[in-house]
Amino acid sequence: MGYSRDMLSKPVIGIAYTGSDFNNCHRHFPELLAAVKRGVLAAGALPLEFPTISLGEVFLTPTSLKYRNLMAMDTEEMIRAQPMDAVVLMGGCDKTVPAQLMGAVSADRPAVMLVAGPMMTGRHHGERLGACTDCRRFWARYRAGDIDADEISAVEGQLAVTAGTCAVMGTASTMACLIEALGMCLPGTAAIPAVHADRLRAAEASGVAAVKLIGSKLTPSRLINEKSVANALRVLLALGGSTNAVIHLTAIAGRTGVKVSLDRLNALSDATPVLVNLKPVGNGYMEDFCAAGGMGALLRELKPLLHLDCLTVTGETLGERLEHDVGFVDPSIIAPFDKPLEGEGGLVALFGNLAPKGAVLKRSAADAKLFEHEGRAVVFSSLGDLAARIDDPALEVEPADILVLQNVGPHSPACMPEAGYLPIPKKLAQRGVKDMIRISDARMSGTAFGTIVLHVTPDAASGGPLGLVRNGDRIRLSVKNRRIELLVDEAELKKRAAAAPAQTKIPERGYGKLFAEHILGADEGCDFRFLMPR
Ligand code: FES
Repeated sequence: MGYSRDMLSKPVIGIAYTGSDFNNCHRHFPELLAAVKRGVLAAGALPLEFPTISLGEVFLTPTSLKYRNLMAMDTEEMIRAQPMDAVVLMGGCDKTVPAQLMGAVSADRPAVMLVAGPMMTGRHHGERLGACTDCRRFWARYRAGDIDADEISAVEGQLAVTAGTCAVMGTASTMACLIEALGMCLPGTAAIPAVHADRLRAAEASGVAAVKLIGSKLTPSRLINEKSVANALRVLLALGGSTNAVIHLTAIAGRTGVKVSLDRLNALSDATPVLVNLKPVGNGYMEDFCAAGGMGALLRELKPLLHLDCLTVTGETLGERLEHDVGFVDPSIIAPFDKPLEGEGGLVALFGNLAPKGAVLKRSAADAKLFEHEGRAVVFSSLGDLAARIDDPALEVEPADILVLQNVGPHSPACMPEAGYLPIPKKLAQRGVKDMIRISDARMSGTAFGTIVLHVTPDAASGGPLGLVRNGDRIRLSVKNRRIELLVDEAELKKRAAAAPAQTKIPERGYGKLFAEHILGADEGCDFRFLMPR
């Protein structure tokens, strides 16, 4: 490689590098990598980048979640197998950050995360646009016949105008904020826009921080513990963040032996206000959150609820970090603790005979008028069935019905895609219907909104009761009581289960076989059992 003896005698900082031509969110990584390297060199160590799998959310089939654990295994093994004293993890797009952290926890070398940072917004007819909450809004208008093909094409050109992760509080932004709450990245770095000069300064500082970590006991498994996970859950609820983060945080915490239960989520949700006014829950974008004070300001507002003795990657405790000068805070984006946007957390877990091991609803992005509702089920048995019939003018459906999508959970061939945001049937969209209750064992993009019950567990493909719902059954949702009930008696459900037992087809070879044989349910973070600690 042409290194001098002098250089080779220095400690080594590995840099897990996820630049890829299939990952548009990471297209600024070459520049960011150079900044990390100069930080490492300036601090007296040798930076050595190494490639791992990169997961570009929009290009992966059937869904990026299928490959999160593969990337986690790749990251873990490459950190462990190669000679490095500490590692900088460069990630950003949805699954990359949880995958890297899961792997880093299991490898347990000193590590610091550097996230990609969010995209800037674009403009259409004077209106700001950001991927991908605004895409959904415009797409719904296009489906309803409100705007034409030329306009939707013009909107498309303004949705993802810079490098970086989705511009709203979607999964990538939520995960970046949780990483900062866990103490795994430098303070104040979660929300800096991807193309801002401060992002490069953060990269340089992350390189320096990694060198400081050499020989330290501040490894990921020390920083991520019961208390820091509780802090991260508080932040998730105060953000009104992505439902996907529940799965990812469960998986990350699971690698340290810490269990994230949905009951615990509910208990914290009851006592955590929503403070952050960003799309899809509110109005702003990630660049506004950064300018409004970012994670430092949010953590300060949440201070009474947080465990302040948690250590961070700098060696400071969270409490010590929050003693520093906060600077400007914009209360229109980060509300004060005593004047919250909503009194209770953005996410809520539901239980009942339809979801014995739980389901998740993003209540802050849902229509409260539907929170106490009983309706008739309109069932789609698969993604193919949904695509074939949802816009059929002959579909028997009314606004008060409940749309049910089966066989899209982790044990299905679909591998739990972000398909839970079922479109409003075209004939109802044209009548002006904007929201309906939708229930599935799928996930939903963190950028989406609606009264949507997700992650129903056990999933239909593993024999869960969701697979037993039939057209015309009555379903009752009660957010107040945290219940989701299928109003069909036990004997009838047993009969249906016996008549059509759930079947999962295991692929014959390769990663697909490994995935199908070892994938755990959403309640266990969709990790593989053999990757969890014994
Ligand atoms: Fe990469 Fe949204 S597509 S973060």
